[in-house]
Amino acid sequence: MSGQADALKGKSVLITGAAGCIGAWVIKELLEIGAQPVAFDLSSSTARLDLVSESSYGLNWVQGDITDYDQVLSVIQDYDIYAVIHLAALQVPFAKADPIKGTQVNVLGTTHIFEACRQAGVNRIAYASSIAAPAMGDNDHLDTLYGAHKVCNEQMAKVYWQDWQVPSICIRPGVIYGPGRDQGMSAAPTIAMLAAVSGLNYTIPFSGQVAFVHVRDAALRFIGAVSEPANDALVFDMQGTPASVTEVCKIIKTQVPGAGITISGSPLPFPSDTDDGGLDNYLGLGGYLSIEQGIEDTIEVFTGLAQNGKISIEKVEELIKRNS
Ligand SMILES: NC(=O)c1ccc[n+]([C@@H]2O[C@H](COP(=O)([O-])OP(=O)(O)OC[C@H]3O[C@@H](n4cnc5c(N)ncnc54)[C@H](O)[C@@H]3O)[C@@H](O)[C@H]2O)c1
Repeated sequence: MSGQADALKGKSVLITGAAGCIGAWVIKELLEIGAQPVAFDLSSSTARLDLVSESSYGLNWVQGDITDYDQVLSVIQDYDIYAVIHLAALQVPFAKADPIKGTQVNVLGTTHIFEACRQAGVNRIAYASSIAAPAMGDNDHLDTLYGAHKVCNEQMAKVYWQDWQVPSICIRPGVIYGPGRDQGMSAAPTIAMLAAVSGLNYTIPFSGQVAFVHVRDAALRFIGAVSEPANDALVFDMQGTPASVTEVCKIIKTQVPGAGITISGSPLPFPSDTDDGGLDNYLGLGGYLSIEQGIEDTIEVFTGLAQNGKISIEKVEELIKRNS
């Protein structure tokens, strides 16, 4: 990370979706390399950030909505933004529950980010697509409205490069896990780790092979992607360390003997076998945390949080209910 740290030191980096899981880790890592994150989110809650970072004092936090173009342009201009990491989105279940809102946030909101960057001359842009995008139209997998939104974003990014030379790097994460992952259709493995630490039973509601990415690994790659301007509209998969849900369950039980974690249901409608070589080669990064180490680290963080009273049994019961 040292070249990346130098490139972003003292620079203002806008993070949309800052209150979310990946956003929290991006902020933590940016603070650690001396960049100046500017958080932008509908929510003013630093709850996820507080789980993972102790040094968010003085952070610029703008409560705003990416579906409002003026707000997006203003934050970029007011904070003299040097780079943008665009993470705000409504994940699969939320886009399905409200297709119009989902499309406004995921498609119109992303257009606002590109347009504001074009107007303000920002040329370091990384944004989150998903492995749900390459799954679209693949007969082996189910399509989702969210996947359609992500495909649209990737195509818009190509047009922004073609017509206006606005460069970007798209990262398609697999299933993110780790502290802070508490919502979305694939949050269950992380909820299982939390349930195990809390002594509660939990059934992961899907099975099969999954492309697991520890959230810190994801954050480092989004940060790497804005360290230099791209010279194209690039798209990369981020598949992390594919493993089966059964293996994950086994690792959790090794870490927490007697954990009441079971599995039920079909595989997720996402591939776990796309090529992951390009991203790390491009960024000069090497290797993901192994799934064993990622689970061990996550369980260690959850254990510490439970001991410090930062996670209550009631909260875990509520998460289990929402993610069953
Ligand atoms: N979590 C995963 O496994 C995963 C996998 C693939 C892709 N992604 C993508 O990565 C990105 C980040 O994922 P995450 O897990 O951190 O998501 P998350 O659901 O934890 O956080 C999303 C954040 O976006 C914010 N947001 C929603 N609508 C907004 C709006 N109109 N204006 C401003 N902020 C708004 C929410 O308040 C929330 O804090 C998303 O684009 C997601 O689609 C995530």
